Amino acid sequence: MEVFILENYDEISKKASEIISEELKQKPNLKLGLATGSSPIGTYKELIKEYESGNISFKDVVAFNLDEYVGLNKNHNQSYHYFMRENFFNKIDIKEENCFIPNGSAKDLEEEVKRYDNLLEEYNYADIQILGIGENGHIAFNEPNFTLSADTSVVNLTDDTINANSRFFKHKKDVPKTAITMGLKGILSSRKIILIASGEKKARAIKQLLIGKVTTSNPSTFLNLHKNVIILIDKEAAKLL
Ligand code: GLP
Repeated sequence: MEVFILENYDEISKKASEIISEELKQKPNLKLGLATGSSPIGTYKELIKEYESGNISFKDVVAFNLDEYVGLNKNHNQSYHYFMRENFFNKIDIKEENCFIPNGSAKDLEEEVKRYDNLLEEYNYADIQILGIGENGHIAFNEPNFTLSADTSVVNLTDDTINANSRFFKHKKDVPKTAITMGLKGILSSRKIILIASGEKKARAIKQLLIGKVTTSNPSTFLNLHKNVIILIDKEAAKLL
């Protein structure tokens, strides 16, 4: 695990974008694992700038997202489909048919999680997976629990996560209680993982992650089992180290 403690969020975003851009130049048909939340927005902005400058192209890239709320349709302004279009996909030359996100409004969710895992397997997983981290250590929507799912699954969100994510919704009651999330197998099968964390609120989860032990009470600690993880944090998130 390589840890970079950077000055601030902008520096994290630039570093993440640099790593991804380099890989993309080497491999134009890169398979990118993407995340939502506020953490990767700066990285997307930097990548868009690189694209606009003509330094990189996403025309042969395949993208897989980590998760989606259950019950929000693709056009709901808090759905992760909407988030990805607004913050990234609509601003680059990626092909719509190469963008995969779990469908949280699928009629048969059990079929949908199987479909998503089959897809990941078929493409042989991401080359680079971008990850944020929840204040409680969740990655994607894999929440602290007695057990964690290896496969993509439908999960109940914890009160902590519902509270944290309620800032994006008008009322707390509007936050969905369940989500589809890629499981630990999908995440850990990526060739390289970049985890981004900024701000003091993430400091406790980061400290636990970097102790180097694995516990289901902080799902991010499973990244200790992976050989190629880059942690990009700012000084606030590194406060307890
Ligand atoms: C959500 C997402 C996660 C994300 C986390 C942290 O719950 N499902 O993928 O990492 O929030 O979000 P933020 O980056 O806004 O702090």
